[in-house]
Amino acid sequence: MIIPNDPFLGTHYIGKEEQKAAREVLKSKSLFRYHGPNLLYKTDEFEKNMAKYLGVKYVLACSNGAAAIKLACIANDIGPGDEVLMSPFTFIASASSVLACGAVPKFVDIDESMNIDPLQIEKNISPQTKAILVIHMQGQPCDMRKIMAVAKKYKLVVIEDTAQALGSEINGKKAGTIGNCGAFSLQAGKTITCGEGGFLATNNKTLYERAKMYHDNGGYRIGCDYPTWENGKTIFGENFKLTELQSAIANEQLKKINKILKRQKQVYNYITQKIDLDFYHLRPAPKHSELVYSNISFIFKTEQECQKFIKYMNDRGINFNIYCSNLINQFDTFKYQQSWHHSHFPYNISKYQSSKCPKAQSLFKRVAWFSLSASLKKKHLKYIVKCLEDYKNEF
Ligand SMILES: Cc1ncc(COP(=O)(O)O)c(C=O)c1O
Repeated sequence: MIIPNDPFLGTHYIGKEEQKAAREVLKSKSLFRYHGPNLLYKTDEFEKNMAKYLGVKYVLACSNGAAAIKLACIANDIGPGDEVLMSPFTFIASASSVLACGAVPKFVDIDESMNIDPLQIEKNISPQTKAILVIHMQGQPCDMRKIMAVAKKYKLVVIEDTAQALGSEINGKKAGTIGNCGAFSLQAGKTITCGEGGFLATNNKTLYERAKMYHDNGGYRIGCDYPTWENGKTIFGENFKLTELQSAIANEQLKKINKILKRQKQVYNYITQKIDLDFYHLRPAPKHSELVYSNISFIFKTEQECQKFIKYMNDRGINFNIYCSNLINQFDTFKYQQSWHHSHFPYNISKYQSSKCPKAQSLFKRVAWFSLSASLKKKHLKYIVKCLEDYKNEF
């Protein structure tokens, strides 16, 4: 049996509603969020609806998740000379967005949860440390209570990279709404999607306004007014705006988010309630957390055991695998401090120091992941459970 294996959660829910919304925008001929002959204000609407869903004051839609992280850094005055603490177990964009601001990441080890270890944060703080980029990996929120306590003690900014965890919660709050800013992605593999896209969430008006200006070439608009740069009132910025077409689709996807999350949880529960959890060690989640069940993962004692399990499952058409072939602190970008500029910027200003992260180095090779596709059917789940049971009985 071929078992569906893809991480494209929201993508599977693209249907008539998204098609209708996209057609309406095309018919309006107003694809730019601020002007058009018959503007439908879809981006405004998406921002309002998302702010309500997350329970925050401000949401700013932008071109992608990496842009949202960069905007969060810029808004929080993170730049050359600064160091941002983060886990090396992430997608490269988390760290590239920090480099793009002229700051450098400092990689901090993870714990069994596969997220940043709050104890290691404190040990890695230096006079250059300005912020913690908390990455809620693979749908699971970090231990925000502990992280916020360290941040408060050392007066550090907290940015939450919630690209992979829109909809997860911790201590009754949505991930991405606890630190100074949350950065989210709407890329095809995320909880909800419009192909590419992202947004920033915050309760702080100043941070929101700074990010808004930066994302619109450094101008400020109220509603659809002309930006302040029309009068020469400028500050450096870039163009990170989302289009009306994307926003219309994202808006329809947002209406489906509870359905998407509920279905994923049912799938995860179906499997975990039927297998022996003394044999299969699940990734531990922090107390009082609600996950985005985009995947299931098992931690093994050794790399060999993990590989044996992966092969067994792959031979039966179930595509378990390790998450990545390398941690990002081992990528050339950091190993050789690769820069686009002959001056070696930003490494020449913010002194990058490599760090070993032994726990992450050992764990990422010992954890087998399987993406819980939104198209998994009961027959697939039964088969997966049977294979997991068979493996346990054979070994
Ligand atoms: C953890 C993490 N951070 C940031 C990003 C960047 O998001 P985007 O692809 O929308 O730029 C991703 C995207 O996959 C991600 O997984």
